[in-house]
Amino acid sequence: MLRRLYHEQPESFAFTKANQAWADAQISKYPEGREASAIIPLLWRAQEQEGWLSRPAIECVADMLGLAHIRALEVASFYFMFQLQPVGSVAHIQVCGTTSCMICGAEDLIGVCREKIAPNAHELSSDGKFSWEEVECLGACANAPMAQIGKDYYEDLTTARLAEIIDEMAAGKLPVPGPQNGRYAAEPLSGLTSLKEYDTGKTKYNASAQRAVDQGDSIKRIDGTEVPLLAPWRDKGANHNPGAPAVTARAKPAAKPAVKAKPAAKAKPAAKPALKKPKALKSPRKSGADDLKQIKGVGPKLEKMLNDMGFYHFDQIAKWNAGDIAWADENLVGFKGRVSRDDWAGQAKLLAEGRETEFSARVKKGDVY
Ligand code: FES
Repeated sequence: MLRRLYHEQPESFAFTKANQAWADAQISKYPEGREASAIIPLLWRAQEQEGWLSRPAIECVADMLGLAHIRALEVASFYFMFQLQPVGSVAHIQVCGTTSCMICGAEDLIGVCREKIAPNAHELSSDGKFSWEEVECLGACANAPMAQIGKDYYEDLTTARLAEIIDEMAAGKLPVPGPQNGRYAAEPLSGLTSLKEYDTGKTKYNASAQRAVDQGDSIKRIDGTEVPLLAPWRDKGANHNPGAPAVTARAKPAAKPAVKAKPAAKAKPAAKPALKKPKALKSPRKSGADDLKQIKGVGPKLEKMLNDMGFYHFDQIAKWNAGDIAWADENLVGFKGRVSRDDWAGQAKLLAEGRETEFSARVKKGDVY
């Protein structure tokens, strides 16, 4: 569906005082230079204030964030959550029309909207109170069919219940959102059919949580000392793991030794070789530090960490060998593995030679926020 700006636009837009204060607070959540990250909350607030997003509202948000208007327009026109034309003053009903909902009656729900609101999507009802549209999966497939109205999901809908909900909203009431057929959440309406151990109290937690508790290795490192992963199918000869050697017959257990042998001492895992820090500088050279943010994967925080470690220039990183990369991967706390993942050394080599990468060209153009 084409998402275009509405043909009639208001003259201007301004946040109310309270919304302006809220928007300023949102912007302050992001680091300096990264204010554009607040674009979605701000557009959403503007929509909540006016009911829909007008061109002046989108441009106002862009100006607040120091963005070109087209950037904000791209965001507003991409996401279905943003309404680019006036919607019903009471409610805009977004009926999910994707597979689960379609199978469970979404077309009938759309029929209710056509009959009670307006024949066409995005058309206002005669009193201007309601509008509707069909949208893609809203992620509540286990409670199909469903519709989003405002911020809420109304699930397990029937045509009769959706018609009632519209009437209740028209009368100024606020129907309770969530499943409309008596379910608490997404559990089977007729009781559990699987994972019954939990229901009967045989296990304390649900299946995957119980397995994690039983194995006790949920945050343990995979370093060779862990309990071997369970692979019960291998003993049964099933073909779940085509790469594994075929199991033809179960080996006979070895006869028990007459005298109980002393168990061999558990071998200690081999110590990892110590990593050595690559050559660093005390300060940048006279020419000044390079803009390491031109390396894809390096933001302002990582650039500062690198500088604090004595790395200021592309050619320093370009010289890193496998050991140096392993050291950096290990020591950039909070960003483990980033150096090898994004091939910083390869990127730095090009940049040190005065060449550009696709990413560095975008940084220079100001396209990376
Ligand atoms: S198919 Fe309707 S919510 Fe997923």
